[in-house]
Amino acid sequence: MTSLLPSATLPSAAPATRPLPRALARLLSLDDFEAAARRRLPRPIFGYVAGAAEDNQSLHSNRQAFARYAFAPRVLVDVSRRSQQTELFGRRYASPFGIAPMGISALSAYRGDIVLARAAREQGIPAILSGTSLIPLEDVIREAPGTWFQAYLPGDPQRIDALVERARRAGYETLVLTVDIPVSANRENNVRTGFSTPLKPSLRLAWDGMTRPRWLAGTFLRTLLSHGMPHFENSFATRGAPIVSASVLRDFTARDHLDWEHVARIRRQWPGTLIIKGILHPQDAALARRHGADGIIVSNHGGRQLDGAISPLRALPGVAEAAGGMTVMMDSGVRRGGDVLKALALGARFVFVGRPFNYAAAVGAEAGVSHAIGLLRAEVDRNMAMLGINDLREMNADLLAREALPAD
Ligand SMILES: Cc1cc2nc3c(=O)[nH]c(=O)nc-3n(C[C@H](O)[C@H](O)[C@H](O)COP(=O)(O)O)c2cc1C
Repeated sequence: MTSLLPSATLPSAAPATRPLPRALARLLSLDDFEAAARRRLPRPIFGYVAGAAEDNQSLHSNRQAFARYAFAPRVLVDVSRRSQQTELFGRRYASPFGIAPMGISALSAYRGDIVLARAAREQGIPAILSGTSLIPLEDVIREAPGTWFQAYLPGDPQRIDALVERARRAGYETLVLTVDIPVSANRENNVRTGFSTPLKPSLRLAWDGMTRPRWLAGTFLRTLLSHGMPHFENSFATRGAPIVSASVLRDFTARDHLDWEHVARIRRQWPGTLIIKGILHPQDAALARRHGADGIIVSNHGGRQLDGAISPLRALPGVAEAAGGMTVMMDSGVRRGGDVLKALALGARFVFVGRPFNYAAAVGAEAGVSHAIGLLRAEVDRNMAMLGINDLREMNADLLAREALPAD
């Protein structure tokens, strides 16, 4: 199915030695990319990426959850042989993190999905192409073999089969089914900033674009000139709605009737690795395993779906126990190497990061994403040394202590 990448092709844990453009060199942590992207992107697009659902309760608790754990490091351990390489589904990756699927990335950066996938491949980590993307999935995997594909299941079995078959024929080996979106979320922030899909032409939208001339010329007009108006390319086996239109409605065929039988059907059809994304309850982890999933991503969609949903870090120990040996991964709120290590200590084998990589693509294209990956990788490496471990399998709950926070 998948083959082991020879370790020699993996970049080392050392930070990149290529000289960085000055604008990127000033960005020292993943959070630094957000302010830079806010200056680059039109308000509705930045708001779409940064925003979450309703009162942002889950968005905030995703970050707080990490602060509830402190490290209890070991000292005077020879850590000179440390390595953060991680084996996952028979492949060896250079770091224990990857790029989460994000819709409409080609509006944040010119050819955004390809930018993210190529930087990930170059840096030896996985990237997941979103089903809500604007570049045909065939083009992305041609540019970056090894990319994973995330699907939102269309409502009816024929269309599910056709989409899954299309991804298989294109050469994808890992299929991620996102299951936390039976209905669209309540994202009031999108209404407030004027974001919708498709975007509706208006004076306000034109103004939003004109006040971000670097984005207008370097991303939007460049895309229009080179590739025409972007469409949703990968929601179904056939092309979907354009990204800007006064009248077209997107086809959100009902997903609220989907259940585990649909997963069982896809399992029979999909020969590669099958992952369920959006699990938060231990019983659903057990069901995923029973229905033949190879792994799950514990996720509350970065706080963008059910506001008030438990943070994945808090859910991890219970979910990992119920998973019974199936591969458990997580996302939502990971911003530091220390966060990655806390997630691994609590039962995750791998983590994914969303928004910061989207911002990195917006401000620095492939070099920006590589820089962000390098920063997170350097943090993991440094923290492994200070925790006294050489191998990520040593990262367990013994190295963590619960912090009492004022809200406790
Ligand atoms: C702009 C944006 C678009 C997203 N689109 C998708 C998507 O198409 N499919 C999906 O499964 N998750 C999507 N997500 C959720 C991410 O895959 C991931 O779960 C989340 O961003 C992780 O949280 P973080 O941003 O705090 O790292 C999106 C997130 C963002 C920020």
